[in-house]
Amino acid sequence: MGDPQGDEETPSQRASLTQLSRLAMLVGLGAAYGTLAAMMARFLYPTRPSVRGFVFVANAKEFRPGEARVFRTPSGETVNITRQGAGVAAEDFVALSSVCPHLGCQVHWEAQNDRYFCPCHNGVFDPAGVATSGPPADAGQSLLQYPLKVDASLLFIEVALTDVADGRRRLEPVTASACPPGPGHDPCLYRGTKLT
Ligand code: FES
Repeated sequence: MGDPQGDEETPSQRASLTQLSRLAMLVGLGAAYGTLAAMMARFLYPTRPSVRGFVFVANAKEFRPGEARVFRTPSGETVNITRQGAGVAAEDFVALSSVCPHLGCQVHWEAQNDRYFCPCHNGVFDPAGVATSGPPADAGQSLLQYPLKVDASLLFIEVALTDVADGRRRLEPVTASACPPGPGHDPCLYRGTKLT
């Protein structure tokens, strides 16, 4: 004959079951709030599609061998476009960000030294934009490179078009006088950068 008490829960079993059901409820609530938070974040901060495209720079023949020009992209990035080769094919040009990856000063091309130079802390980059000396080299930083192409002598670089507000899809030349004034010893500091 079976024990009539055998199927009844003991106080400790009841306590465990209560704890388990509380835990399950908390997990459920956490999941619900997590989903709600993710939906709100997506609503408040929608991710924009990463749109990139080629924009016209200039007739490739306008660049003298060794000449570098600075342009501002439609989304506001500044780019050094340098004719490093003797010809006017895509491989004779390099397009690199002019913003130093160390603290954001403006980097410029020195044809006579075959290098890009950042005057803020003597950062040096080779013709491909790889840091070879100074703080950027210590940190293993390189200049951001932009793909480019030449089509019927016309030079194009590929840039982000995500932030184009008014549909402009062209580059603007940047002159030295257009560099924003700022503290420090580089007259062309990247806006908002604080030197230490
Ligand atoms: S900001 Fe260019 S080396 Fe420091």
